[in-house]
Amino acid sequence: MKYKIAVIGAGPSGITALKNLLDQGLDAVAFDRNEEVGGNWIYSEKESHSSVFETTHIISSKTLSQYEDFPFDEFDPETADYPSHEVLRNYFQAYARKFNLYPFIQFGTMVKECKWIDELHWQVTTEKDGIEKTEQFTHLVVANGHHWKPRYPEYPGEFTGEFLHSHHFKKAAPFAGKRVLVIGGGNSACDVAVETSRVSASTAISWRRGYRIVPKFFFGKPSDKVAEQTKWFPVKVRGFFNQLLLKVMLGDNKAYGLRPITEPFGATHPTINDELLHKIRHGKVKPRLDITRFEGKKVIFEDGKSEEFDSIIACTGYWLSHPFFDKNFIDYSSGPVPLYLKMFHPKITNLYFIGMFQPLGCIWPGAELQSKLMAQELIGKWKRPKNMEALCEREVTDPHYKQVNTPRHTITVDFHLFVKSLKSHLPKDYVSKRPILTKSPLTESTV
Ligand SMILES: Cc1cc2nc3c(=O)[nH]c(=O)nc-3n(C[C@H](O)[C@H](O)[C@H](O)COP(=O)(O)OP(=O)(O)OC[C@H]3O[C@@H](n4cnc5c(N)ncnc54)[C@H](O)[C@@H]3O)c2cc1C
Ligand SMILES: NC(=O)c1ccc[n+]([C@@H]2O[C@H](COP(=O)([O-])OP(=O)(O)OC[C@H]3O[C@@H](n4cnc5c(N)ncnc54)[C@H](OP(=O)(O)O)[C@@H]3O)[C@@H](O)[C@H]2O)c1
Repeated sequence: MKYKIAVIGAGPSGITALKNLLDQGLDAVAFDRNEEVGGNWIYSEKESHSSVFETTHIISSKTLSQYEDFPFDEFDPETADYPSHEVLRNYFQAYARKFNLYPFIQFGTMVKECKWIDELHWQVTTEKDGIEKTEQFTHLVVANGHHWKPRYPEYPGEFTGEFLHSHHFKKAAPFAGKRVLVIGGGNSACDVAVETSRVSASTAISWRRGYRIVPKFFFGKPSDKVAEQTKWFPVKVRGFFNQLLLKVMLGDNKAYGLRPITEPFGATHPTINDELLHKIRHGKVKPRLDITRFEGKKVIFEDGKSEEFDSIIACTGYWLSHPFFDKNFIDYSSGPVPLYLKMFHPKITNLYFIGMFQPLGCIWPGAELQSKLMAQELIGKWKRPKNMEALCEREVTDPHYKQVNTPRHTITVDFHLFVKSLKSHLPKDYVSKRPILTKSPLTESTV
């Protein structure tokens, strides 16, 4: 039987899924609600799928943040260690051009509903320009991203100032002269606090626990390149080494007025930021404890102190969301996520998730390897293990890191262990740089 495969999304994960399916001569089409390739990396001042802001730069460095089929040196050898959102968008679009993917992508097309029929049939309903269309596919590949649906925090009382989520934060300028409170200790919170502090009347940052702030460089090298040197050691040993290095270089959080750290390295998703500590020591960002309640413009903190703010920016993360599935069928929004290699479902064999993991590192190199493995299975060169259900369960019971039990920590992987285990399933010659020359299902011509 000839397979017909639908890919949801043409972001960094969807394009590599599409590329690797087509590369093996499979019939595939990708749908994206956007008008271009790039997903989260298409910055827009208007509300959109993207959650990046004007000044976002990547936090994993370039040599650990590239597709093996298309390294940055082939894109632009002068790419900086930590490129901006604009450079990344250009990189993803160059990837799509290099591998001739555009004819296989339906832009401006929202996937509204995916109904599983049986192991060789999916019914997929899309909407383009207000017109709905339902088509049958044999396989479904989900690459819709997991940083686009804001997760708002809730507190007793009412805040009467401006309240927004980091998904809606696009630039610092609108916060000029305002008293700003940022909630969270992740990468969004620290970036947003630094950016608003350049123009605000005051910026404070509220943390509900202590975090280690990892600088972007150690000894003149990107931090992830330094950490890579220890990738051969067990996770716990690496964690200990990282903890020690950070303590020697930066000292205790106490020195910055920040909450003390109570968890080992890796227990929370790492926060990489070169400027937050500097801004705190320059008095531009003020550390605050967790919020207990609101009273008008007043915010009351855990220590009983209160302060007035004009704007609150909740940088409190995102829901894992698959709105095109019936919630009784698949709903990972509150975890757990029992998927083998974060991609294979325990029972449904014609469904793949690509890029739905949170590495301590970059997403798309892992998504590329997942895509290659998916394609190997579809051309019959790789067989999934028989004990799939047990393996899926093990992903939940035996994660790479024991993390604090908060919503953002349901899909974490260690970058190096994850890459290693995906590669162990792939043939030695998995890198493939040839352009796609198969027939486009969209143009019905050879492209
Ligand atoms: C501010 C910020 C900075 C980040 N920095 C990094 C970083 O430094 N390194 C890193 O690895 N990750 C980073 N991330 C994580 C980010 O999720 C990944 O970089 C990357 O975008 C994941 O690619 P993706 O293709 O899986 O998802 P996305 O980039 O989100 O792309 C998903 C695509 O699917 C489309 N889509 C979704 N639903 C539908 C639907 N129903 N129908 C049709 N199309 C649909 C969207 O339009 C989009 O094009 C960052 C995230 C944020 C918010
Ligand atoms: N420059 C960049 O490249 C960049 C910038 C921004 C984001 N990112 C990436 O984008 C992804 C999302 O990052 P994110 O920072 O937006 O979200 P995140 O990693 O989910 O962090 C959310 C933060 O908010 C806290 N939080 C959640 N709910 C809360 C509540 N009710 N009250 C108080 N605090 C609460 C979390 O605390 P807990 O620790 O308790 O969970 C955590 O500190 C990550 O992969 C991140 O690396 C990258």
